[in-house]
Formats: sequence, structure tokens, C-alpha cells
Amino acid sequence: MKAVILVGGGGTRLRPLTTNTPKPLLPLVNRPFLDHVLFLLRTHEITDVILALAYLSESFEQAYGDGSHLGMKLTYVREEEAMGTGGAIKNVESHLDPGETFLVFNGDILTDLDLTDMLRFHKESASICTISLTSVDDPSAFGVVDMDESGRIQRFTEKPKREEATSSWVNAGTYILEPEVLAHIPSGEFHMVERGLFPDLLKQEKPLYGYRTGAYWLDIGTPAKYLQAHTDLLAGRLKHSLEPDGEEFADMVWVGEGSSIHDGARLTGPVVLGKGCKVATGASIVGPSVLGAGCEVGEEAQLEGIVAWQGARFEAKSHCHTSIVGTRAHIGPDCCIEGVTIVGDNASVGAGNHLANGVKVWPGVTLPERSVSF
Ligand code: GTP
Repeated sequence: MKAVILVGGGGTRLRPLTTNTPKPLLPLVNRPFLDHVLFLLRTHEITDVILALAYLSESFEQAYGDGSHLGMKLTYVREEEAMGTGGAIKNVESHLDPGETFLVFNGDILTDLDLTDMLRFHKESASICTISLTSVDDPSAFGVVDMDESGRIQRFTEKPKREEATSSWVNAGTYILEPEVLAHIPSGEFHMVERGLFPDLLKQEKPLYGYRTGAYWLDIGTPAKYLQAHTDLLAGRLKHSLEPDGEEFADMVWVGEGSSIHDGARLTGPVVLGKGCKVATGASIVGPSVLGAGCEVGEEAQLEGIVAWQGARFEAKSHCHTSIVGTRAHIGPDCCIEGVTIVGDNASVGAGNHLANGVKVWPGVTLPERSVSF
């Protein structure tokens, strides 16, 4: 069975992290997020994958080539302009096997969904479109699905008010489709399956089914959820997941080749350091924290619950909590960065600044010393 992964979205809620890197390639525990999706597909012996591209499309082929190093076959299909989830599926039609069932995956979902069992359910139900569902406490931000006992879908409601939601089951962004559904998506137009294809098929009384699962599920679409994905992966909340790279240096502390950690530094797992990191005396890194290759942590710096990309530098006595620091970004001495702050690639935060409450420092920006205190 072929799989189509939708990876063309602009990832606007994750700006400025997605300014230079598309959301599916953002590092998750020091590997492109897409590695985790491809791992799940391989676990279920799905190795023939079409990537539906739009935003920053060239980055994917640069990262993965033909996929043979992963034992996979990757095909890249570009949209001139982002065509929406349905438009993207229609756009890959000529690369699908005629008459064959196929899988569609949103490229920003971290899950250990049992795809093999979902396919069994799809076939047994004689469904033409099976949607994976997850149960959430507050369905108001999602597409809510009502079903009968067999799982046959009766109704979709996009983003209902919390008190008006009639089910806690929401669209989890993985679909198994029969090729006949492609005839219901217009060619060359922007189209969203959630608002177009699915309700249209329902109106025509076609058999659509919801596959209810308690599998781990998270869409990494916001900064807080991106951090959450690190926390959950490192806490082992997924049944199957890729191990962090590097040696397990202490309990739940993985350190990449060529890293140096001063004896006077303290690392409290889960912590992952990429290759060639330097941690100075008196520094403390408390998990869940992940630092990419070549990061530097100065004397008495304190990091907790952070994600830093490669080459980020934290100077002496800087404090950084629950925040994301981009590639080669620099945090000056005595700074305090907290509350899901984002410091973009190559940005520099001068000494003594205090950033909090989801502040975003755009890539390449320099904040002068002691200029900001939130
Ligand atoms: P936001 O701008 O933050 O909403 O993110 P997004 O653009 O990625 O949109 P969303 O989270 O709704 O997308 C869900 C999945 O579909 C992601 O994996 C996107 O990459 C993908 N996607 C969304 N729109 C398109 C599109 O027009 N073309 C393609 N190929 N993929 C898309």
C-alpha cells in the first residue's frame, strides 16, 4: 500500500520556527519530525511514500533523497501554490496505483497508531474512507465526528462550541481511502478534505467509517505542543518510537559523540545532547531538555524543559525554561528566557534581558543588552 504524507502547509502557528524549516522537518529529539512518521510507516511495512509538497518544498528532497538509506521509496510531488489537504491528494493521483487502497497522513501528527489494525477495520467495514479518531476533552478546536455503533459516520461538525459538541471523537488526521474518492475532489483547485470531500461523501450516503483508537496522538502545530512532543517522546509515552541518538551517559541522559561535559555540571534526565556540545562547570540542564549538535552552555547557566537547535549558545548565568531556541541563536549572560518563548535562528539576545509569555524573537534579530523585560 502506498502512503501520501501531506507536508506542504506553511506552519504559520509555529512561526518563526518554520521561517527556514517546514514544520515536518523541525527537529524532534534531534531528528527531523518526518523521521518519526516514516518510522511508524516502516513499522507497518509501508515503504512506498509520496510526499505532497508546497511550502519550502526543496528542503525535503535535500533531507531525504530517494529514501533508499531508510529502505523506503520516496516520491516528491510539488504544488505550485498550496492546494489544501484535498487539493494535495488530488495532485498526487497519477502517482498512486490504479485501483489500490492508499493511506493519507497529515505530516504533523506524532502517533503510534496501529495502521495495520486500521487497515483491517477499513476492509472489514467495506469503507471507502476511514478516518482515524482520537477522543479529546475539549473538541471545540477540532472536526467532531458522530457515528453509529459499527463506526459508520453520520455527521461531521467542524470546531463546534464546547457545550454543543455531540461526541468527543475528533478527526486525528490519518485516512485510508479507496481510489474512487478521488473522483469527488475537483482538479486544480484549493480543496480541504475536512470541509469538502468528507461532508460531500456523507451527503451522497457513501460508507465512511471512523476508526476509534486510544493510541498516543499529538499534532505538533503550536509551540507548546512542539515542546509537549519532546516531553512525551522522552517519557516513553509512545509504544514504538525511535531511540535518541548518542550514548546513554547516565540514566535518561544521552550524549552525542565529541561532547564535553565538565565534572562540575549537573544533567538531570531526560536530557539529550547532540554531537560536539560543551557544558561548562556549574551549569545545570534539567529534563525534558534536548540540545542539538554543537550547542554551548556556559558556567552556571540553568536550562530546564528546553529545546535548542544546533549551534545554540547559552552564556554564563543565563536561565532558560520551557522555551525553544533556534539554530545558532545566542542567549547572552544573565538573561532569563521562559514561558514558551521562541528565539529564532541566528537571533541574539543581549545580556540581562527577560523574555516570557510566548515572546517571539525573529530570526537574525539582535536584542540590545537589558532592553526587554516582560
Ligand atoms: P498552520 O499554518 O499553523 O495551520 O499549519 P499548516 O499550514 O501545516 O496547516 P495544518 O496544520 O492544518 O495542516 C495539516 C497537515 O496538512 C500538515 O502536515 C500540513 O503540512 C499539511 N497541509 C496543509 N495544507 C496543505 C497544502 O495546501 N498542501 C499540502 N501538500 N499539504 C498541506
